Amino acid sequence: MIELLDVHKRFLDNVVLDGVSLDVRDGETVALLGPSGVGKSVTLKMINGLLRPDTGDVIVDGLHVPQLKRKELAELRSKIGYVFQYGALFDSMSVHENIRLGITDEACYNDAAYCENRVLECLRLVNLAPDVADKYPAQLSGGMKKRVGIARAIAGKPKYLLYDEPTSGLDPVNADVIDGLMERLQQELGVTSVVVSHDVRGSFRVADRVALLWQAKIRAVGTPDEILASRDSAVQQFLERDLEMALIHNEANSGG
Ligand SMILES: Nc1ncnc2c1ncn2[C@@H]1O[C@H](COP(=O)(O)OP(=O)(O)OP(=O)(O)O)[C@@H](O)[C@H]1O
Ligand SMILES: [Mg+2]
Repeated sequence: MIELLDVHKRFLDNVVLDGVSLDVRDGETVALLGPSGVGKSVTLKMINGLLRPDTGDVIVDGLHVPQLKRKELAELRSKIGYVFQYGALFDSMSVHENIRLGITDEACYNDAAYCENRVLECLRLVNLAPDVADKYPAQLSGGMKKRVGIARAIAGKPKYLLYDEPTSGLDPVNADVIDGLMERLQQELGVTSVVVSHDVRGSFRVADRVALLWQAKIRAVGTPDEILASRDSAVQQFLERDLEMALIHNEANSGG
């Protein structure tokens, strides 16, 4: 279970989170939506201890994240797969080595045959060919890097997955592959996830519940159906804007 309890965070005079509370139950997928710059990535970073709240608490797997010592935090992080918004691959390492870093179990990490198999399996799960393993990040397209980042996040079979814009920059086919993968990880392995996204449609497909972060607070939380039916002006504004963007996108793609 993941719990954010009345989290406040500011950078100088920029108040980013002003009393954010959110819980993600075991086995649940929650989509965190909101406009650019609202604090979605900051919220994810709180969950794995990359950022600390000014006040409030973050509890993951029964542990108070802001209070953990280095070693305890490292141990918790080994259970959390993190898909970074901008990939965050190591340029000097091959794709194989990058994905292998996601294998957090010491014995597995040191077992070359296991790593070889697991890396290939993870590449397959994100719809990448086996020969991508030998390439370097600079040789990949943006969408391929994104998928390698996802492969790394799942390589260690984590209990929790934090996805920061997992499908942004992907073509519709590969966005579908990733949405399908997120669904399977939840259904077959019971992974607990938070998916940060701009993509309302994709996140409504994968999420059990949706939360809208709006002006430093969680403005609405509910099932996709509840959110779609919401009369809240901010929710409606956010959904309408997304719908408009999708229409513009479709017109641009279908226009001769
Ligand atoms: N380490 C940091 N130091 C100072 N300010 C930061 C830091 N990280 C984030 N911010 C600020 O916090 C705010 C929220 O940033 P965040 O990256 O969480 O937005 P976001 O919702 O993920 O946006 P996007 O959809 O564009 O990725 C922004 O104003 C950003 O400038
Ligand atoms: Mg972000």
